[in-house]
Amino acid sequence: MKSSIKFILNGIPKEVDFKTSAHLSPHMTVLQYLRDVLKLTGTKEGCGIGDCGACTVTLAERDLEGKTVINSVNSCLILLGMLDNKHLITVEGVAKNGELHPVQKSLQESRGSQCGFCTPGVVMSAYTHYINKRSFTRESIESSLSGNLCRCTGYESITKALISLKSTSGKKESVELPELNCDELVFTRGESSYIKPCDLNSLLKYREEFPEYEMVSGASDVSVKHKNEQLFDAKIIDISDISDLKRVAYEANNLVIGSNVSIESVKDILCNLYSGVKEYLCAFASLQIRNKASMAGSVAGASAVGDIMPMLLAMGAQMKLSSAGSSRIVNCREFNSSYRKHILKEGEIIESFIIPVPSALRVLFLHKQSRRKDMDISSMTFCIGFELDKGIIKNVLTGYGGMAPIPRPSQMLEKFLEGRAFTEDTFIQAKDVIAKDFRTISDMRGSAGYRIMVAKNLLIKCFNDLKGEEDGSGN
Ligand SMILES: Cc1cc2nc3c(=O)[nH]c(=O)nc-3n(C[C@H](O)[C@H](O)[C@H](O)COP(=O)(O)OP(=O)(O)OC[C@H]3O[C@@H](n4cnc5c(N)ncnc54)[C@H](O)[C@@H]3O)c2cc1C
Ligand code: FES
Ligand code: FES
Repeated sequence: MKSSIKFILNGIPKEVDFKTSAHLSPHMTVLQYLRDVLKLTGTKEGCGIGDCGACTVTLAERDLEGKTVINSVNSCLILLGMLDNKHLITVEGVAKNGELHPVQKSLQESRGSQCGFCTPGVVMSAYTHYINKRSFTRESIESSLSGNLCRCTGYESITKALISLKSTSGKKESVELPELNCDELVFTRGESSYIKPCDLNSLLKYREEFPEYEMVSGASDVSVKHKNEQLFDAKIIDISDISDLKRVAYEANNLVIGSNVSIESVKDILCNLYSGVKEYLCAFASLQIRNKASMAGSVAGASAVGDIMPMLLAMGAQMKLSSAGSSRIVNCREFNSSYRKHILKEGEIIESFIIPVPSALRVLFLHKQSRRKDMDISSMTFCIGFELDKGIIKNVLTGYGGMAPIPRPSQMLEKFLEGRAFTEDTFIQAKDVIAKDFRTISDMRGSAGYRIMVAKNLLIKCFNDLKGEEDGSGN
């Protein structure tokens, strides 16, 4: 058990002992630590809730095999306690020996900055892209910058600046990590507590002992809540580094994905089963958020408009729920009980998601309807999977988000489609089922009428997209 963390900041080893530093706490965001404590004010605070990317920093850490992975993350979301055993690079650490980094030079030369407020965040997203030696195509650069808003330069000159780096073609830089120390971090001051267990057994014991403590994984929901509620005395169990919750394995005929594998990794893993997942999950928040946010965090939030549950429903996924001394497998269909509620019992956690490996006949359609392509919560989501057996639709599974108080399947649609011919006429007729099955609400993301209309039209899009796949003209 320890009360301190060790990490590297811009190449310099650091140790923070929370017991002896009254002004520091593992609950504070990395952004607060950088700006308010260290006075490293190059990292900017725009929104403070993950929306703008001004606070982007680069974080290097070990994966399960001990290899170094380097990601861009939002420092306004991740917590200081999460830096243990990692290397944090901020905009102050990018230029070396008074020489601007190629990324900075190209932004300067291509006039990729005006007021400059977004620029440190843009530099850090581009720097992470560069040192990971990702390709310098427009598509790949836009994906790396999906979480960086700029209100004055215009994205074209920023994107062009980075495309021009093609000539230097990125350099894989090695980033050193501190020696791994897996002791658990336990810290209490006044009403606030922060516990960072190292393995699943220890986590489950803490969950049993302190069921009221909030678990934090990617912190993309929890940090926003804490900021909105001005919560300074949180009781937290940080599960972000528990390797048991990050394992991925094929077991029997299933793909088992640890509950807290990052969404960005899930995107790559699930592409092995269904190619359409890539586009769907690319529209989930931003790269910075996907690099840390987890499927469990999304599902446990029980939002009616979360993107993950509808996808899992259409894949026929199950979840392993565990508590000290017991575990159970439940179908994702049973997980949400009512608005913002789920069936997790006191002391229970989501341990993994169990996704059936699809047969060669199975097809999947996933669509998120939102007003912006990147960084937007959906107005509604439609996911559907079925087998296409000699032109007949079989074993239909659906998942809708934003159409009811909870993400849920349309059993009426599943029943209607089952056994019918895969023709446009079938999907046109299915439109009537939607209006019968859902009583949607109107809110800021769309009126009830809009949602129903989109849901009906998506049936036709689904037919056209999957028809392309069936006749080989799809992607
Ligand atoms: C700017 C922004 C954009 C976003 N865009 C999207 C979007 O496009 N689509 C979308 O669906 N969501 C979006 N979200 C919401 C959020 O990022 C996701 O729901 C994310 O998946 C949460 O995961 P996390 O690991 O960060 O959760 P955390 O914030 O760490 O935790 C959230 C909740 O989940 C619980 N939890 C975490 N792990 C477990 C577990 N293993 N077992 C039980 N409970 C657990 C925690 O206790 C907590 O109550 C966005 C959020 C932000 C801030
Ligand atoms: S300050 Fe806007 S994303 Fe962090
Ligand atoms: S240069 Fe002003 S916000 Fe981007």
